[in-house]
Amino acid sequence: MESNTQNTPLSKQLFGEDFIWGVSTAAVQIEGAFDVDGKGESIWDVFATKKGKILHGHHHYTATDFYNRYQTDIDLIKQLNIPNFRFSIAWSRILPDGTGKVNQAGINYYRKVIQYCLDNGIEPWITLYHWDIPHVLEAKGGWTNRDVVDWFSEYVAVCADAFGDLVKHWMVMNEPAVFTGAGYFLGIHAPGRKGIRNFLPAIHHAVLCMAEGGRILRKMLPKVEIGTTFSCSYVEPYSNKPKDVAAALRVDTLLNRMYIEPILGLGYPADDLPVLKGMEKHILPGDMEKVKFDFDFIGIQNYTREIVKHSFFTPYIHASLVKAERRNVPITAMKWEVYPESIYHILKKYDQYPQIKKIYLTESGAAFKDEVVENRVNDPKRTEYLQQFLQQVLKAKNEGSKVNGYFIWTLTDNFEWAEGYNPRFGIIYVNFETQERIVKASGLWYANLLR
Ligand code: FCB
Repeated sequence: MESNTQNTPLSKQLFGEDFIWGVSTAAVQIEGAFDVDGKGESIWDVFATKKGKILHGHHHYTATDFYNRYQTDIDLIKQLNIPNFRFSIAWSRILPDGTGKVNQAGINYYRKVIQYCLDNGIEPWITLYHWDIPHVLEAKGGWTNRDVVDWFSEYVAVCADAFGDLVKHWMVMNEPAVFTGAGYFLGIHAPGRKGIRNFLPAIHHAVLCMAEGGRILRKMLPKVEIGTTFSCSYVEPYSNKPKDVAAALRVDTLLNRMYIEPILGLGYPADDLPVLKGMEKHILPGDMEKVKFDFDFIGIQNYTREIVKHSFFTPYIHASLVKAERRNVPITAMKWEVYPESIYHILKKYDQYPQIKKIYLTESGAAFKDEVVENRVNDPKRTEYLQQFLQQVLKAKNEGSKVNGYFIWTLTDNFEWAEGYNPRFGIIYVNFETQERIVKASGLWYANLLR
């Protein structure tokens, strides 16, 4: 009895035999090689050339050089006993002109990555869209142009055809809230568009594409597991004044409900977020049927919680976030509150949707300043965060949550979008001058949990 338990990894003892364990990445953040082997330009390739958009003038042109180092990085995944690897496909490597001509070199590259995973007993999990639409399509309006549904459908079909014989787990999209909010409303991510005029059509087209992408995958690959991922933050009002409570409801709707509820067949939650009424002009007859899709799983990604108060001056939502720095709470290098309990509340919330069959936590992690001392990186804060996060997941699971998997964000330190290379999220340290890797103490902790 005892020796049996000793041989079973702690992860399985705590979470059961079939719980999925993995690590997540995204093409722009790791690959580099942004202009080789026939790749076209993505919106990030163009955004990075604009002054002042990315902190310290950083760019992703080399990133962690995963394009050339995928074998040794996948060797590290194996060394850390991590059985599942989530990564994204760069649309502009597959279809350099967005649509039309397929770039065989791009397909060959991802097939090599996938095959190398499989040869090493690691299951590949593909994200089709992690924020990098080809620039040529952005020049035609990108996510604001309804034609994106056709463009995206073509891309999904090419990928299903190219990788469907090897890959059993697919995610259509990564966090539509972030790429539409940051990229098409605030202008702080690529392509840098601003305003409600861009935001509302981008939301609707992203939602249409998620559902359509799901349908194409299911038709072409009836046996694979299909999901899509959402960013979520537990939202609480700053005080129990009715105005703050109402503001928190609007922000919760914006962050946690707006993209998933139409997919689940519940429509856009415009009653709780009146600005969504402006979306009506982008919704064509029959669309509310088209935005529905019965995903096999929903990917949830959570990093923090938000505290919200009423704000008369903030247009559209009349609410503002009370920054963690001003609340005297522990924060990460992203200035996000360290609040692992957030995931427990989020799971409770999503478990209430009867339409959701299964939940995988497809990203979570924390950026802290790391220091190399005698060729080691001791990162107790990160390990502690990951441990506490998992405790909250376990608590929800033991109470009957539909959660059945967890992927750490992220494998190696990488290019953190508009924040450049300063925030380090990896369980493996990267020296960006030499590309040397050092497994952090948190990586060893994860390996031990999975051993
Ligand atoms: C998520 C993104 C991921 C990474 C983490 C820190 O919103 O999906 O690419 O940047 O945040």
